[in-house]
Amino acid sequence: MTVQEPHDTIRRRVFSGVQPSGDPQLGNYIGAFKQWVENQDAKENFFCIVDLHAITVDFDPDALRRQTRELAAILFACGIDPDKSTLFVQSHVTTHAEGCWILNCVTPVSWLERMTQYKDKSTGQESVSTGLLDYPVLMAGDILMYSAHEVPVGDDQRQHVELTRDIGGRFNRLFGETFVLPEAIIPEVGGRVMGLNDPNVKMSKSYSHIRGHAVRLLDEPKEIQRSIMRAVTDSGNEILFSEDPEKAGVNNLLGIYKVITDKAERDVERDFADARGYGDLKRRVAEVVIEELRPIRERYYELMDDVAELDRLMAVGADQAREVSEPKLEEMKHRVGFVLPG
Ligand code: TYM
Repeated sequence: MTVQEPHDTIRRRVFSGVQPSGDPQLGNYIGAFKQWVENQDAKENFFCIVDLHAITVDFDPDALRRQTRELAAILFACGIDPDKSTLFVQSHVTTHAEGCWILNCVTPVSWLERMTQYKDKSTGQESVSTGLLDYPVLMAGDILMYSAHEVPVGDDQRQHVELTRDIGGRFNRLFGETFVLPEAIIPEVGGRVMGLNDPNVKMSKSYSHIRGHAVRLLDEPKEIQRSIMRAVTDSGNEILFSEDPEKAGVNNLLGIYKVITDKAERDVERDFADARGYGDLKRRVAEVVIEELRPIRERYYELMDDVAELDRLMAVGADQAREVSEPKLEEMKHRVGFVLPG
């Protein structure tokens, strides 16, 4: 048996995912969704709403159900085109859970215990689910079962993609070439958008309910304006990109502006050469963010008016995802010596 190559051998295959937990925020958009949308024509794309991952920490079933549909609508509203990309819900395609089991059995526990995200999420918790420890194996299966070359993600997922390569490589060595080993595609600027209330902490869905921490993708213009105007900066007045930790707040705002306007660093700094202090900087950053998110919010509400159509699109996506991942799962089963049903 040979490694099953993507159907389309000219375009590179992309796989990425997002959890339907919390309110999607500007970091998700800049680190992930924006690049997913922009590369749709050039690549063959699979985007997954990872509800199996979302139940690894405390969750509310009603909220999960609601957030799964909302996230689908947000992704379509951001520009994911169902004619160009496959968007689907992870639990609709059972190969993910099944493939994860097989990969579990080739993954040393010690590899999982050293994952920084596991350490962060488990520290101080009274009880930690087995699912939380196993989370990166499920993610590895997501990617490997689609023979993805590229995984466009924010910087916080880098270690998980590296682990995916380790797990896939180990399986290939033990059972023969089965998996394509993927590469993380992380934006140079915008790979780690920081919290507006604390530029030393990553902007996160989990804190997006905290006032002033994040811009949520569905926030009204007034709310966006308020959060950005309150962003923590420093006591200086220089508006330049900088690695200086003291300047992290200004650097973060400039990074957001840069990605949204798609300008070079030098041009961004030039745009602010006439700015009078950080107030001006914040006002202009708020303006571009508001204009970027306005059509997304409008389209989102249109899409949420027709939930049946959203569900239909999810079902089409799941069919397309099964077509690719089921043969790979069969190949995995064959490799490890399972007798395939006759
Ligand atoms: P999740 O749901 O936490 O985030 C979705 C995407 O948004 C990126 N991101 C950010 N990028 C820049 N700055 C930020 N502040 C920021 N916050 C979040 C994340 O890096 C991610 O790309 N484990 C994944 C979901 C997943 C997955 C996969 C991803 C499951 N299976 C397979 C890729 C491939 C996660 O929890 O993403």
